[in-house]
Amino acid sequence: MDIKKLIGQLTLEEKAAFCSGADGWHTEAVGRLGIPAVMMTDGPHGLRKVIYGKGSNWGGYGEKITVEATCFPTASCLANSWNVDLLRKVGAAIAKQAKKEQVSIVLGPGINMKRSPTCGRNFEYFSEDPYLAGKLAAAYVNGAQAEGVGTSLKHFAANNQETRRHSCSSEVDMRTLREIYLAAFETVVKEAQPATIMHSYNPINGKQVSQSKWLLNDILREEWGYKGVVISDWNAVNDRVKSLEAGCDLEMPWSYGLRDKAIVEAVRSGELDEKILDRTVERILNLVFSYPADENAPDVDLEKAHEEASKAGDECMVLLKNERNLLPLSSGRPVAVIGAFAKHARYQGGGSSHVNNKYLDDIYELIDKRNGAETFYAEGYRLGKDVNENDPDEALIAEAVETAKKAGRAIIIAGLPDSFESEGADRKNMAMPESHNKLIRRVTAEVKDTVVVLLNGSPVELPWLENTDALLAAYLGGEALGGSITRVLFGDVNPSGKLAETYPVKYEDTPAYLNYPGEEYKVVYAEGVYIGYRYYQKKKMKVAFPFGFGLSYTTFDYSDIKADGDKISVKVTNTGKVAGKEIVQLYVGAVRSRVSRPVKELKRFAKIDLAPGESKTVEFELDDRCFAYWDERTNDWRVDTGDYNVYVGRSSEDTPLCVTLHKVDPKPYIEPIHVNLSLGDLFSKDEYKAVRHDLVYPGLSEEQKKLLGDAELTSDFRFIRARHMWTLRMLIDNGSIDEKQLDKLIAEANRKLGF
Ligand code: GLC
Repeated sequence: MDIKKLIGQLTLEEKAAFCSGADGWHTEAVGRLGIPAVMMTDGPHGLRKVIYGKGSNWGGYGEKITVEATCFPTASCLANSWNVDLLRKVGAAIAKQAKKEQVSIVLGPGINMKRSPTCGRNFEYFSEDPYLAGKLAAAYVNGAQAEGVGTSLKHFAANNQETRRHSCSSEVDMRTLREIYLAAFETVVKEAQPATIMHSYNPINGKQVSQSKWLLNDILREEWGYKGVVISDWNAVNDRVKSLEAGCDLEMPWSYGLRDKAIVEAVRSGELDEKILDRTVERILNLVFSYPADENAPDVDLEKAHEEASKAGDECMVLLKNERNLLPLSSGRPVAVIGAFAKHARYQGGGSSHVNNKYLDDIYELIDKRNGAETFYAEGYRLGKDVNENDPDEALIAEAVETAKKAGRAIIIAGLPDSFESEGADRKNMAMPESHNKLIRRVTAEVKDTVVVLLNGSPVELPWLENTDALLAAYLGGEALGGSITRVLFGDVNPSGKLAETYPVKYEDTPAYLNYPGEEYKVVYAEGVYIGYRYYQKKKMKVAFPFGFGLSYTTFDYSDIKADGDKISVKVTNTGKVAGKEIVQLYVGAVRSRVSRPVKELKRFAKIDLAPGESKTVEFELDDRCFAYWDERTNDWRVDTGDYNVYVGRSSEDTPLCVTLHKVDPKPYIEPIHVNLSLGDLFSKDEYKAVRHDLVYPGLSEEQKKLLGDAELTSDFRFIRARHMWTLRMLIDNGSIDEKQLDKLIAEANRKLGF
């Protein structure tokens, strides 16, 4: 297709119309030139193609229903698999269902960092770690786009809360932005080139992202090489002309033509260079012709897709506690299944990602069938819009306790109801409903053989943990979560999930607690790079369960770490009696650093299968970025000269193996000498060795020179015992030289240093 030729045939009005949706979900078509519209729709863990009832349009009037599709585990659940191949398969499976429904772009994955566990949308996001999120999302994008369906990486960027998400400015320093809030997007752009990127609602440092050329063009395109289309989040555009210039190509959904007119007028008045408009139209036409709807797309068997969702869920379950090897359960004995979730599971999140799934596992039924003996049931707590889901129901709790005692063992299904977490609002705390907590406390107090299974989109406080011997985090495991829970509980599947986010002991311990969700229209990311495990480890804080943690029904031994340059290898052995999958994690930490850095940061991981007794050698290849931090002095990544520990192990807090590598900065940064340079730096940094003598001696009094004797000015120089307290200006304060002389000396020294 000759895109340039097409652009030359479009009128100005037609070009302007391309810059916004034709309706809620489609790009503009121009029939006379054979330019079709393409459809985009949610969502990250399953197709949400909205079909409006009669007489409705994007405005949402009239009945809104969505086509039947498979509801896969949500991102926060899939992330616990740490399995990039699985994410690729899920991306492909969702794409197939999109294709069948003539959808060209799936609006996902969502990869915003989990600055606070209380963000209402965390169920839709992967992790508190940008490396893990980036790798998993890149696999999802590659999987989907290989099926000929585009994706939309979202929400770019620093959209880490739902509170006032359209207008609360994320105040983030540059280094934190680069190392934490942009890094996952960078990985996906460079490794997968998503067809579109959805920019976020919020301002960053006071500038609406929709109008941030620095973000949407300079970084995204010029630095990272992004080639696709930048779309707005829905109704996220303020000034259409400014946002077009900044790099927001497609305003979604549409503005009833109002903003198209603004573009036409801006070109006509000379305010907007038509080349900018043509650049955007070219990108959109490339998108339209790269991802055309396919009328002959093969049908999708949703029953088979249910099996795929089930297999995905099996890899995501995280076994957090298993005292006395209570799990796996033996079948053939009575069991009590307690909790309304067992019959009315919460398996996905609320909002734009919601899927109309045709199938849904019944947790109670599947456990009953698998157990093959009497399965008692007790509701335990109320669910639903017409009740206060937080209030314990004493009668239901009493009944549940009696039921558990009768069976002698119990499985409690509890967690977070829809009313506790959803798109559009943040949680006020990390508590589960008191009705669930009280039920768990009361049952575990009476029946030791009790397993708690959590259905939650994000971490919760676990006040009953000490008295609970077995805990499985099933998260929002999608339509097939019942099968996964059952297979793990009875040992048909050996759990292999590990946490992609930390479970702190309490909300008050979280890094952003003092600054979340901010004061009305500004939220300060005061914790900087210290989110998630980076924070708890730096502060040496105890957590309930650390990032990267998850138990198995077998055990793994780590040995023989070796380093050959940047190649690291370790041996992992299955030392238990059953086959299992192990997620091997590699972290890097600078032994000392000029800037404040986390103790260790995830830089590689691998998931391996091991039979009982089997060993495998896992190899990792590191690169400079594994050691780098963002240097705000030079606006670039830097690896300082020094030693770096490379840790390998089972979780962020369990890295039994460590090897130290030495790195040399190929282009060390030298601070130019100035009057406020501390004498400590002047005498301790090698880069100043050649000039400090001439610089300081003339400025010393005879008495001071005597004090020094003939000794070379070294770091023991007594006048700088106050170290960095004194600066070159002290030489003037001595009265031995004047300002002009010092300026001359400094200029001479800098010339020698090559400035
Ligand atoms: C919502 C969400 C975005 C979604 C879009 C379309 O506001 O922020 O993730 O894709 O609108 O539903």
